[in-house]
Amino acid sequence: MEILRSVVVLLHLVGFAVLFGAWVAEAVSRRIRFTRVMDWGLALAGVAGLILAAPWGIDYELNYVKLGVKFAILVVIGALLGIGSARQRRTGSLPPAMFWLVGILTLANAAIAVLW
Ligand code: HEM
Repeated sequence: MEILRSVVVLLHLVGFAVLFGAWVAEAVSRRIRFTRVMDWGLALAGVAGLILAAPWGIDYELNYVKLGVKFAILVVIGALLGIGSARQRRTGSLPPAMFWLVGILTLANAAIAVLW
């Protein structure tokens, strides 16, 4: 059971790496845009995160306040990616604030996971 949970943690981390890596790749090449890879990373981190939010394969209590905050942030990132991508398709550009918020909130969720 513990090994299975560790595999799901690994998938959760891969999702985070894909989302944040795709975002950093655009940021450093000064392309203010969302890509499909970011959606895939968020989906993987989200699904794995929800599976990890259930108390299985552990012998300690989960912090549901922390998990609730992480889930709320995930929903905001999803909304930004969804609305921003639609706008990008329609107008050909993305408001910079939406782009930067996705990177900041993704990093914030990783920081909450590690530091809280
Ligand atoms: C963009 C969204 C997210 C990012 C970037 C993210 C990032 C991370 C990172 C970096 C870790 C590893 C921390 C460590 O091992 O010390 C982690 C662990 C974890 N995350 Fe997330 N997370 C996200 C969303 C979620 C969501 C929505 C949930 C559930 C509501 C969740 C539940 C968990 C749990 C339970 C762990 C601990 C795994 C364990 O040690 O058993 N995460 N997250």
